Parts: sequence; C-alpha cells; structure tokens
Amino acid sequence: MEHLITAIKEEVENYQVASADQLEAYRLAFISKKGKVSELFETLKTLPKEDKQRFGKPLNELKQLAEGKFAEWQEKLQSSASNATLDIDFTLPSVPEKLGNQHPLTLTRNRIIEIFERLGFSVADGPEIEDDWHNFSALNFPENHPAREMQDTFFVEKKGQNGAEQDLLLRTHTSNVQVRLMKDQKPPIRAIMPGRVYRNEAISARAHCFFHQVEGLYVDKNVGFADLKQTLYHFAKEMYGQDTKIRFRPSFFPFTEPSAEIDISCLICKGKGCNVCKYSGWVEIAGSGMVHPNVLKNCGIDPEEFTGFAFGMGIERITMLRYQVNDLRLYSENDLRFLRQFSTVV
Ligand code: PHE
Repeated sequence: MEHLITAIKEEVENYQVASADQLEAYRLAFISKKGKVSELFETLKTLPKEDKQRFGKPLNELKQLAEGKFAEWQEKLQSSASNATLDIDFTLPSVPEKLGNQHPLTLTRNRIIEIFERLGFSVADGPEIEDDWHNFSALNFPENHPAREMQDTFFVEKKGQNGAEQDLLLRTHTSNVQVRLMKDQKPPIRAIMPGRVYRNEAISARAHCFFHQVEGLYVDKNVGFADLKQTLYHFAKEMYGQDTKIRFRPSFFPFTEPSAEIDISCLICKGKGCNVCKYSGWVEIAGSGMVHPNVLKNCGIDPEEFTGFAFGMGIERITMLRYQVNDLRLYSENDLRFLRQFSTVV
C-alpha cells in the first residue's frame, strides 16, 4: 500500500495538462470513481484496522493533492479560453441592423405638409373626440338636416342620455379644427390640418371606419375662388407631376358656398381611361369651396370684411394613387410584407 501511494503521488506530481481533453483524461485516470486514487480507497476498506489507521492519512493527502492539481489546471484553462474570445477581428463588417421605415400614409402626409408649408400654411391639430357643435352645427349643418347623413357618425355620448349635456362624437372630418382656429385666431389664418377621422362605414377594399384627412383653410381680406384654384393647381402639380391636369366640378358642402370637387387626370392611364378611373380619365382627390358666411359668423369673423377658402382630401386615397395600393385595409393590417415595400421611399 505504501508503495502504491508513493507511486501514484509521483505520477500526479509529474503529470502535465495543456488542454481540456488532457484534463479530462487526468480526471478519469485519478479522481473519477474508477480512478486510481478512488481505487486505493476501495483497497483501504479491505485492510485490517491498524493498516486503515496507518494509511488513511497519507491517502487523504494524496486525494487532496490530486484534486488540488485538477482545480488549478481547470482554472488556468478557463482563463486562457476567455482570453481567446478577445481575439476578435474588429475590421470585419458588422451584422446589418434592420431599421424600420415610415408608414406609407406618413410619407404622403409629410409630402403634403411640405408642399403647403412652402406656400405659407402652418400645421394645426385638434381633438378626435369632438362635440356636435365643432363637428356639425358651427359648420352650418342644422340639427336633423339630411346633410349629416353624408357622414355616418360614431357617437360617444348622446344628449340627454345618462345626463349628457351635448352630443359627443368621433370627428367625421378634420373641419372641426377649422372651427377651432377661426374661433381662437384673428385672420389672416392660413393652415392645414392633418388627422384621423371616423365614420360608420362597412370595411372593404375602398372604405374603412377610420381614415386620414388633410384639410386646409385660408381666411383673409379679398380671398377669392381664383386663390383656391391656383393653390390646388400648384399642389396637384407638385404632388403628382407637372403634366397633371386638374378640374373643378360643382358640388355641395354645407360649410362652403360655392363648393367644388377636385379631380386630377388619372395617373395610371394619363387620361385615356382605365379601371382605376372607371374609364373616365379623371380621379377625385378633394372637396373644396369658399367658406360659407354662416360659418365665419358662427366663429366670430365678420363675413363682410373677410372671405376664405377651404379644402379637404383623404390621405389614404392619395397614397393609393401614388403607390398603386389597391386595398385600403392594407394600411392598418400591420403586414410587414406590405410595409417594408416602402423602406426605400423617401
Ligand atoms: N370636410 C369635407 C369632408 O370630409 C371635405 C371638405 C373640406 C370639403 C373643406 C370642402 C371644404 O367630406
């Protein structure tokens, strides 16, 4: 037994380990359950009592030595391995990071803002939950008038119900901001109002229960229909290209008089006729007109002194024409295959 202990001790002392594999071989040879040191303990059990006492101590010392060496090598190997991870080639190109991109509606809205800002229009904002007066009455929609039916409304609170003092609704157009501007500011007023609006429409490829508008308002002394025409003429050319044609069709809105709908020559067929323009060569892009004197009066502006024009257009519609999007629902479905197509558009 004594010889065996000294022999194995010598072996352990002379053992060299330089890799993880060699360390594992050492562990198996000496300190694992079937290793040489463990075997000696097995032998020890079979010896008479006085031998057990004699060899117990040196054998334990051998065990500690063998395990100590193992721990020492293990630590050395680990620290050299972590040094190796610092061995990075910093000149390699980085893994590209995926950047998001702007929503197509945002791209169109920003372009519209850009064009009108250069004409001196500022950008105004207003609430999406609105009272009846700002959304309808002030804009010359009398109560119970059929004109209100053109805009099927989501009501939040109805007058008289649960003690409500007035109708509260989701605004059906951004014209509520016109009213707020005219009430709060003195002419000249020149602003555009982009924002989300809501109507109780069945959702389809061509209609949704929420969409976006940009409305414009210009009130000052001597503002005439020619100003309206020239402004929108300029806008259409900037937005759709210099060869775009524009036409005004008589129409009706309670808050403008006279009123006109604005068409541009179809961008797809250049006026020849296709299914986008329903073979007419024209597509409607906006409503417009001279602000009705009643609206000016309702907002505290003297219609004898000031006149103004207003227009409103749907951002979804314009984006459809710009990028040939054929289904309105794509805008709000958050399908990345659709949205990523706009990542290179600026
Ligand atoms: N507010 C109108 C609508 O949503 C659009 C419009 C605005 C028409 C301004 C004329 C003048 O239908």
